[in-house]
Amino acid sequence: MIDIKSLSKSYKDFLVLDDINLDIKDGEFVSILGSFGCGKTTLMKIIGGLIDDYQGIVKVNGVDPIEILKKRKIGFCFQKANLLPWKNVIKNISLPLELNGYKKSLNKSTKLLKMVELESIALKNIWEISGGTQQLVSILRSLALDPSILLLDEPFSSIDEISRGKLHSKLIRMHQKTKQTIIMITHSVDEAVFLSDKIIVLTKNPAKIKKIIKINFPKRSETIKNNKNYISYVKKIRTLLRG
Ligand SMILES: Nc1ncnc2c1ncn2[C@@H]1O[C@H](COP(=O)(O)OP(=O)(O)OP(=O)(O)O)[C@@H](O)[C@H]1O
Ligand SMILES: [Mg+2]
Repeated sequence: MIDIKSLSKSYKDFLVLDDINLDIKDGEFVSILGSFGCGKTTLMKIIGGLIDDYQGIVKVNGVDPIEILKKRKIGFCFQKANLLPWKNVIKNISLPLELNGYKKSLNKSTKLLKMVELESIALKNIWEISGGTQQLVSILRSLALDPSILLLDEPFSSIDEISRGKLHSKLIRMHQKTKQTIIMITHSVDEAVFLSDKIIVLTKNPAKIKKIIKINFPKRSETIKNNKNYISYVKKIRTLLRG
């Protein structure tokens, strides 16, 4: 689905990404970890077709990412929810559908809210729901047009640990239903191990792939966090990040 060969990217003469080779399969949940400023967002923007001046080959479903972006088959969600405060929850989710002339936009948005058991907040104003829920609404909005890839740039970074846990469960349920390819940037090793099929650890100055770790245990529930395997993955990745 996503195929990256010898990708390098510089901003002027500052080399940020150096010889990145990566292969992401359809439906995989992949997390990107690396220290601040190493180039994670740059890599994500290239995959999403938002940056097109780079060296190397990047293909999404066999074509240039820009083609996928034009067809609106890529959903983005960034650190801040960026919802429109003058529209309620359901209308925020419907927005991309309305902008694309979709007729039954409210039906579709209601389905999305139901998927994460949040139909009760449909008519709430944005300022009435918590920051974490806003983030989830923003993810639902990015799903409105059924993108085949969802790009999440630190979506839960400003959310407390308990609420995060709840959002993780909802995200897992969502992923099991939609089976999209999800690429998520995070600074939380726990979050990455809990959610991902595969974790990519980047180095810094420039960013190269330090290691790709496959997470091999069945889809996640909170109890897995006491599992020996889980703990050893977390330890291993923390060590990699420190080294
Ligand atoms: N448009 C730009 N022009 C010049 N330099 C840039 C630009 N965007 C990013 N950079 C630089 O490239 C490097 C990588 O930035 P990027 O945002 O990709 O890192 P990141 O890993 O996402 O960081 P963070 O963890 O802080 O979000 C940084 O040094 C940043 O200052
Ligand atoms: Mg970033």
